[in-house]
Amino acid sequence: MSPAIPIVLDCDPGHDDALAIMLAAGDSRVRLLGITTVAGNQIVDKTTANACAVATIAGLYDVPVVRGAGRPLLRELTTAGNIHGDSGLDGPLPIVPKVHPQAGVACDFIVDQVMAAPGEVTIVATAPLTNVALALAKEPGVATYARELVIMGGAYGRGNVTPAAEFNIYVDPEAAAMVFHAPWRITMMGLDVTHQALCSEEVQAEIAAIGTATGDFCAQLLEYFRTTYRREMDMADPPVHDVCAVAYVADPSLFVTRPAKVSIETCGTYTRGMTVTEFLEREKDSYHQVGTSVRRHELFDALIRAIRALG
Ligand code: BDR
Ligand code: CA
Repeated sequence: MSPAIPIVLDCDPGHDDALAIMLAAGDSRVRLLGITTVAGNQIVDKTTANACAVATIAGLYDVPVVRGAGRPLLRELTTAGNIHGDSGLDGPLPIVPKVHPQAGVACDFIVDQVMAAPGEVTIVATAPLTNVALALAKEPGVATYARELVIMGGAYGRGNVTPAAEFNIYVDPEAAAMVFHAPWRITMMGLDVTHQALCSEEVQAEIAAIGTATGDFCAQLLEYFRTTYRREMDMADPPVHDVCAVAYVADPSLFVTRPAKVSIETCGTYTRGMTVTEFLEREKDSYHQVGTSVRRHELFDALIRAIRALG
């Protein structure tokens, strides 16, 4: 078996971020070097507290949690309390954390991890790209020394905050523009893929039936997420967006990707945060890879296996 791929997970938990942490923690094909947090679904105090709560439930006592940016590079923060609730992780009962944020800031942690192991570390970003842009500003070498950057964000089809834009890119389009301009391999898992990763009631029941504290916590997260997705997005089943980004690192064969060049709209009146995607014929001409489909059953099998492995 190939060695586990080391990842830094930059996130804003967030229900689907929490499930992405569970997958990263419980899937032996990846090795979680650290969790960095950013403002997005809620303010950074809350996303950091939520990351610590999830790490506690998952038993991640040795994985650093490092707090990051409290606001986008240039814009006012937009949050998603309508989807994730006032805490950013509404649904399960609050957890008494046994994991606490480490000293330091997320962008430094990202730089240190990437530069310490050139060519080995994958950054998985499932939130606005503020921390990743700050890491690039501090050390442009991260783009060449990272193994890959995999993001949940964007869409080549329709957005979810506006018709043009997906939430993570909409919140900090200037950060996204910096990140997509830099010379690294980026794989974008956008709404085109994540809206195929819908968690059915049967899958949720299977997770609840695992019968562990972690399984119960995940099932309660999914129940809350289902309610808000029905109310706010008119979708019967919630998409586990962020899980797709971690799953791609663990097993790229679950996804179809196509070579492309993605540009970020920062100036448009109606198109702020749009990921303008030009598909390219030849891999060697491509700057980016863009996900187009996912094998849904295998994706949820991997998530269930990981939650089970956490005990
Ligand atoms: C993205 O926005 C957030 O609300 C989710 O956590 C996910 O990262 C989906 O648009
Ligand atoms: Ca997220």
